[in-house]
Amino acid sequence: MWWNTPVIVLLVYLIRLVEAAFLQQLNVSLANNPTNVGFYIYVPDTLAPNPPVLVNPHWCHGDAPSAYAGSAFANLSSQYGFIVIYPDSPNLPDKCWDVSSSGTLTHDLGGDSLGIVSMVDWTLDTYDGDPGRVFVTGVSSGAMMTNVLVGVYPDVFAGGSAFAGVALGCFGEGISANASDVDYWNSECATGQIRHTAREWAETVRHAYPGYGDGWRPKMQVFHGTADQVLNYTNLWEEVKEWTGVFGLSQTPTATMANTPVANWTKYVYGHADWFEAYSAWNVTHNIPVQADEVVDWFDLKCQGRDCFRRGQGGPHVPQRGLPE
Ligand SMILES: *[C@@H]1O[C@H](CO)[C@@H](O)[C@H](O)[C@H]1NC(C)=O
Ligand SMILES: *[C@@H]1O[C@H](CO)[C@@H](O)[C@H](O)[C@H]1NC(C)=O
Ligand SMILES: *[C@@H]1O[C@H](CO)[C@@H](O)[C@H](O)[C@H]1NC(C)=O
Ligand SMILES: *[C@@H]1O[C@H](CO)[C@@H](O)[C@H](O)[C@H]1NC(C)=O
Ligand SMILES: *[C@@H]1O[C@H](CO)[C@@H](O)[C@H](O)[C@H]1NC(C)=O
Repeated sequence: MWWNTPVIVLLVYLIRLVEAAFLQQLNVSLANNPTNVGFYIYVPDTLAPNPPVLVNPHWCHGDAPSAYAGSAFANLSSQYGFIVIYPDSPNLPDKCWDVSSSGTLTHDLGGDSLGIVSMVDWTLDTYDGDPGRVFVTGVSSGAMMTNVLVGVYPDVFAGGSAFAGVALGCFGEGISANASDVDYWNSECATGQIRHTAREWAETVRHAYPGYGDGWRPKMQVFHGTADQVLNYTNLWEEVKEWTGVFGLSQTPTATMANTPVANWTKYVYGHADWFEAYSAWNVTHNIPVQADEVVDWFDLKCQGRDCFRRGQGGPHVPQRGLPE
């Protein structure tokens, strides 16, 4: 008989090959995508029940396929069953994200941020995803967009992780609110000239979504190299002021860990609930190595049980239970 064991094994193998997950470009029409952000998605072969969603915006001069190929998030997604959305910037020719217009910096007003949130909504609907477990991480322009999404859509995201970015609002500072300021390169911010108090930065974040008031806020971690030649290292401390300001935490770390997670990087923890942390990467340039495993742990994306970290659980002053150290 032809359907002997080796043939069946071969057939199963071929079916697996056909099914193997890949980066898909979707052409679905989204409810709200005013700037026409491109939509790419990686859905692993084996999804977790009610899969979590990770958004991974690319860097300037990058695109969705390069973000997919250039990080370990798709591999981790195959391992743990979460979905990864790779949005693709519509802003040519530099392919940076618009993190400066009043549209993108204001809740539900428009811009690239709203298009990305529409992709999240579509994905949650289509795959019966868990709306409590939506996260965002990126490098450089993707890290700026991470700061923007966490601050402008605190009702959508449960947490953010930003590598070599700037504080929400920094790129929008000092420019007028007209359309030509979309995707504006703010060299004053990039070179570290824009500085504010924690109170001022917190005001900027609150202004991004005035109606949100004292609602639950996503947790945040930020990383930056001390030798960053593109977005000056000063921006790390502006992010620290911004998020400690939003969370009402002291700017004095409660814990400092040398050589964490790699040699010559220092981890600073703020408050007592591990709601905000900053990593200073000594002698690291703008080309900062993303610590994908660290990020996935921070978001608790390896968790498969019922007690996984989610939106609305814990807070800057409420110790979290059941999370890895
Ligand atoms: C979406 O459009 C792009 C470009 O036309 C095409 O390459 C891709 O296959 C389309 N994706 C789907 C899922 O139809
Ligand atoms: C993902 O896993 C595949 C297969 O194990 C490997 O070839 C590839 O290099 C990995 N990619 C990343 C970015 O880790
Ligand atoms: C960052 O800005 C400071 C102050 O202007 C400057 O001294 C430093 O050299 C800059 N860092 C880099 C890596 O360019
Ligand atoms: C850490 O810093 C030391 C001292 O400058 C240096 O010799 C070493 O190569 C650095 N390690 C890494 C992984 O960058
Ligand atoms: C800092 O990094 C550069 C490479 O980017 C390397 O050449 C230099 O030796 C490092 N400095 C120290 C003190 O380790």
